[in-house]
Amino acid sequence: MKKRILVSGGAGYIGSHVTVELIAAGYDVVVADNMSNCDRSCFDGVRQITGRSELPFVEMDFCDAAAVERLFSRYKIDAVIHFAAFKAVGESVAEPIKYYRNNLLSFLNVLEAARNHGGCNVLFSSSATVYGEADKLPVTEQSPRLPATSPYGNTKQICEDMLRDAIAADPSIRGIALRYFNPIGAHPSVLIGELPRGVPNNLVPFITQTAIGKRACLSIFGNDYPTPDGTCLRDYIDIVDLAQAHVCAVTRMVEGRMKEGYEIFNVGTGRPVSVAELVTEFEKVNGLKLNYKFADRRPGDVVAIWADTSRANEELGWKAKRTLAETLASAWAWEKHLAEQ
Ligand code: UFG
Repeated sequence: MKKRILVSGGAGYIGSHVTVELIAAGYDVVVADNMSNCDRSCFDGVRQITGRSELPFVEMDFCDAAAVERLFSRYKIDAVIHFAAFKAVGESVAEPIKYYRNNLLSFLNVLEAARNHGGCNVLFSSSATVYGEADKLPVTEQSPRLPATSPYGNTKQICEDMLRDAIAADPSIRGIALRYFNPIGAHPSVLIGELPRGVPNNLVPFITQTAIGKRACLSIFGNDYPTPDGTCLRDYIDIVDLAQAHVCAVTRMVEGRMKEGYEIFNVGTGRPVSVAELVTEFEKVNGLKLNYKFADRRPGDVVAIWADTSRANEELGWKAKRTLAETLASAWAWEKHLAEQ
């Protein structure tokens, strides 16, 4: 019997790539999304890549407890991967209540449904933001979580704690939190990728939109940081590599190979790259010149963060494979594909 995985927020950037990899690995998948921050075209892209025109899709809001309950009654779910959440750091500062309501309530409903249906494996989509400005780099899963600097970051910490506590009280629930570093790039088919609404907050979509002429100039936020070239350091992870980490984590859960009821893994490359390096690499790989300038630091940015990935490498048997060059080529191919639409 094939195992069935529910992917909440499965039509979004990460969810769509994860759905593709789950199907490639032989899982049955049910995608559910309220379509609040994605486009139908991404789900269509998933169906096209996988050749699954009948791939189940449920349009629903995970804040609706009755709808979540109905979903768990309709399908026997072996594991749920929970992506359905808001993710813009700046917006969360301006609208904290909206963020707490959406991100916490949706996950609470998932946990409640998991409990009501005799337990479930739960994979929570967390973030390296929980480490804040770490004292020691790279960060391991044991590095301290620092007080969150945004409501968005706080929702990630609280949801991790909700999962941990639910598992401690009820051994029929098991869970993994994956802490993502900076996911970038697009599927090699260019049928799915990131679709930022309005002006992108994140670096790579801003770069590709500048390169295509949608934005006049990239601002590099700060060049006086205590780093080798003065710009911030991050761990940029290819979206397909990131998606494959989910397959490894889900397989570990459904095959009963977890060592503890609740486990945490960093999902990154272990390679720090500065903003200036990333821009130079993008120009080189894609043979173009980017219009950019140095600007003031962006409030709230950490100076540097990258992952110690040993735990994921050893326990999940997963390792990021794609080079930064391949990933930046895919990001540019995706932007060009969008321009042709
Ligand atoms: N940057 C620029 N110019 C831009 C956009 C970004 O210079 O136009 C810089 C930022 O200052 C930062 C780096 O590029 O130094 C990366 O910025 P992103 O916004 O792409 O990513 P962040 O590292 O700030 O945030 C990401 C996710 C968050 C998550 C965080 C966890 O977007 O959701 O990683 O570390 F919380």
